[in-house]
Amino acid sequence: MTKLLVRDLAQVVSPAGTGAPLRGYEQMSAVEVIEKAYVLCEDGRVSAVGPMADLGGIEGELEELDAKGRVAIPGLVDCHTHACFAGDRVDEFSRRAAGATYEELHAAGGGILSTVRATRAAGEDGLAEALDEHRAWMLAAGTTTFEAKSGYGLDHDTELAQLRVVRAAGGVATWLGAHAVAPEFDDADAYLDFALAEVLPEAAELAEAADIFLERGAFDAAQARRYLEAARSAGLALRLHADQFTEGGGIPLAIELRARSVDHLEATGPGGVTALARSDVTAVLLPIAALFLGRPMPPGRALLEAGAVVALATDFNPGSAFCESLPVAMTLACTQLGLGPEAALIASTVNAAHVLGRAELVGRIAPGYSADLVLLETTDWRHLAYHFGGDLVSAVVKDGAVAWARRGV
Ligand code: NIG
Ligand code: FE
Repeated sequence: MTKLLVRDLAQVVSPAGTGAPLRGYEQMSAVEVIEKAYVLCEDGRVSAVGPMADLGGIEGELEELDAKGRVAIPGLVDCHTHACFAGDRVDEFSRRAAGATYEELHAAGGGILSTVRATRAAGEDGLAEALDEHRAWMLAAGTTTFEAKSGYGLDHDTELAQLRVVRAAGGVATWLGAHAVAPEFDDADAYLDFALAEVLPEAAELAEAADIFLERGAFDAAQARRYLEAARSAGLALRLHADQFTEGGGIPLAIELRARSVDHLEATGPGGVTALARSDVTAVLLPIAALFLGRPMPPGRALLEAGAVVALATDFNPGSAFCESLPVAMTLACTQLGLGPEAALIASTVNAAHVLGRAELVGRIAPGYSADLVLLETTDWRHLAYHFGGDLVSAVVKDGAVAWARRGV
């Protein structure tokens, strides 16, 4: 395989150290910056990083990418998306703008269930096409590793089709079999009986983790325990959507079941913050969803100061967060959650990779890691968060090859 030399970078920026996850304010404030640097990629991995002044001769066939003074950060890792959906919810967006709430639309059979109808109707090929388009948007925003959940099928065939499509697109698949009660069932327990008996055995072959929406109007803590225990017995890692609108016992359950993460936390109070900080469960914060729904922001700074493991994700979906940009999430982390640019970067790289069980492979620019880089149109990497909606991503390298580039790069 040819080697790729990315040369003449103004900065190469990477989370400090080699460990994962990074937790608390201090660890999440440390990034390493090499000025006037190069990155050498070989066989899809980073083989060397250092100052241009130390660059010696390189043997063998070599491709060069002149960064012309741009900055390199690790490929971003989006550890929480619902990118595998068909259709859109622009009508609902208009109704919300006129005053309807997300919960009202959900209770009236719209919301998640309207995307379920569109996703079921799309068929596996249609779904693959939709995810291709969404994946291209994510890549252009700097995301080189993405997770995507099922949860818009809620029947045997469509749930499994979603998981296959995510895997075929190179994503990390999560079975969100308990996103809402399928329209064919009027009782959450009856629906769970079906999902656990009929879908879980095959979902466990395709997905890496299981997730549930623990919330008023969706599933309660007892139902979440039943679903997650069954998923764990089938070999899946565990994740939860919890405390989005109300504190529903998701944090103690996540800690007891040793879940990988608990995600959302807009409604989490001080007790939840303290409990999470004492645990190894990652708090995945989704400020785009809070902004998009006009909800309170999750307690990012309190979690950091208490010593929690914090990750950041887009929650990209057609209802509560129609936005695929981790850089936008990073800006919101800095302006609304009390994170610095360093913590925002760590939360979108190494800690997000940890949530996906890939922290030894992605999330850093260091020898041995996947050669996934984002080149930014700036000489100070912090502009990525500072320039709100600034579109700084000018090229994306994935597995040692240029996967996306703006014209002229
Ligand atoms: O994480 N809260 C539940 N699920 C998604 C929204 C999905 C949708 O509205 O389609 C979320 O915000
Ligand atoms: Fe979500």
